[in-house]
Amino acid sequence: MKVAEVGKCEQKKISKLIFNTIIPRPIAWITTASRSGVVNLAPFSFYNAITTKPPLVFVSIGKRKDGSEKDTVRNIKETGEFVINVVTKDFLDKMVETGNDLPPNESEVEKFNIETVPSKKVKPPIVKGVPAALECKLREILEIGDTPMSVIIGEVVVIHYTDGIFQSSKNIVGRTGGKRYIVIDKEIELR
Ligand SMILES: Cc1cc2nc3c(=O)[nH]c(=O)nc-3n(C[C@H](O)[C@H](O)[C@H](O)COP(=O)(O)O)c2cc1C
Repeated sequence: MKVAEVGKCEQKKISKLIFNTIIPRPIAWITTASRSGVVNLAPFSFYNAITTKPPLVFVSIGKRKDGSEKDTVRNIKETGEFVINVVTKDFLDKMVETGNDLPPNESEVEKFNIETVPSKKVKPPIVKGVPAALECKLREILEIGDTPMSVIIGEVVVIHYTDGIFQSSKNIVGRTGGKRYIVIDKEIELR
């Protein structure tokens, strides 16, 4: 095997190796709302669960190329609320579209005609048709790394789910390296 020693090789290579080896990453397709009510939707794959009691999750969000804060982080800081939508195969193209930068006052759900339904305890809505969604309230934000990344820690307060997802994860999308994705097709259940 080859070796990439941090500090002795290009950062680009370290990033690529991290993206390609810590896989598949779940995708948090996050709805937030600005103070004035503009709904924002964007995907993040540096995301996972921390604990189940209480149910805590983290999402790690970087800056835009110009160094400014992404809309998702700004909205979460302003309102303390977000919703994580679970992405299936049917939503793959829409999810990728919402990963492009839009100005803060432009809503991805309006621009890309994405229908939403209201949440129960938070203002940001749920993407209509997803098999699960986690309503979250902000617990804390850590600023980590050279960029730095905002690591959002959220507490899940309501979980929406279908009977299907309670039994199986089929059709759920994850991210692998670069622009590659995985769709869960076959799960192996061990006894
Ligand atoms: C599948 C996918 C995963 C992504 N994961 C992350 C991530 O973990 N952290 C991050 O900062 N950006 C990530 N991005 C990029 C953001 O989605 C992108 O910067 C988006 O424009 C941010 O939108 P916002 O400014 O509306 O919050 C990802 C993009 C895609 C398509």
